Amino acid sequence: MLNISGATKIFGQTAAVNNVSFTIDGPAFVGIIGRPGAGKSTLLRMMNCLTPATAGQIRVDGRDILSLSGAKSRAWQSQCAMIFQQFNLVPRMDVVSNVLHGILNRRSTVQTIFGLWPRAHIVRALSILDRLRIDEQAPKRAEALSGGQQQRVAIVRALMQDPRAPHPGG
Ligand SMILES: Nc1ncnc2c1ncn2[C@@H]1O[C@H](COP(=O)(O)OP(=O)(O)OP(=O)(O)O)[C@@H](O)[C@H]1O
Ligand SMILES: [Mg+2]
Repeated sequence: MLNISGATKIFGQTAAVNNVSFTIDGPAFVGIIGRPGAGKSTLLRMMNCLTPATAGQIRVDGRDILSLSGAKSRAWQSQCAMIFQQFNLVPRMDVVSNVLHGILNRRSTVQTIFGLWPRAHIVRALSILDRLRIDEQAPKRAEALSGGQQQRVAIVRALMQDPRAPHPGG
């Protein structure tokens, strides 16, 4: 039914999915388990024609999925449902700027337009990123992170707002 052979996706220097092969013979619940950034979503996105593969083959009932384009790929996508990981980050903006936008409502429009952030805010953003062990991703664009990494950036953005601690008992 589903046959994946040598599926590979390279982003720049990163091999997001590296030569993955497996077969699923019939209808089944299948789990794909791996650490954040292991390549699970990228594999699903290749199966769904949302991300073109760098190499390899994906066949469903003998049909070559990776060769589909235009209307044929849209028709396949409509048969192949996917629930997305979405955390409302600004995709083309780097991680630190996304985090700093957590405190946007406390800043003037001029400061925001020119991307002027007080040094203390930048230092605090970096220290929260470090606390959630995501500091290595700080210069990257949000769209280049895995879903789990984006989720952590969204948590850092929330912490950046310094939300009020709940009162004991509610
Ligand atoms: N558009 C992109 N541009 C550059 N790198 C990307 C892009 N999308 C994903 N990556 C990188 O590819 C790798 C795999 O990402 P992927 O989203 O497939 O991981 P995942 O296994 O789904 O992780 P998670 O459990 O966090 O959802 C990560 O290192 C990620 O940073
Ligand atoms: Mg994912």
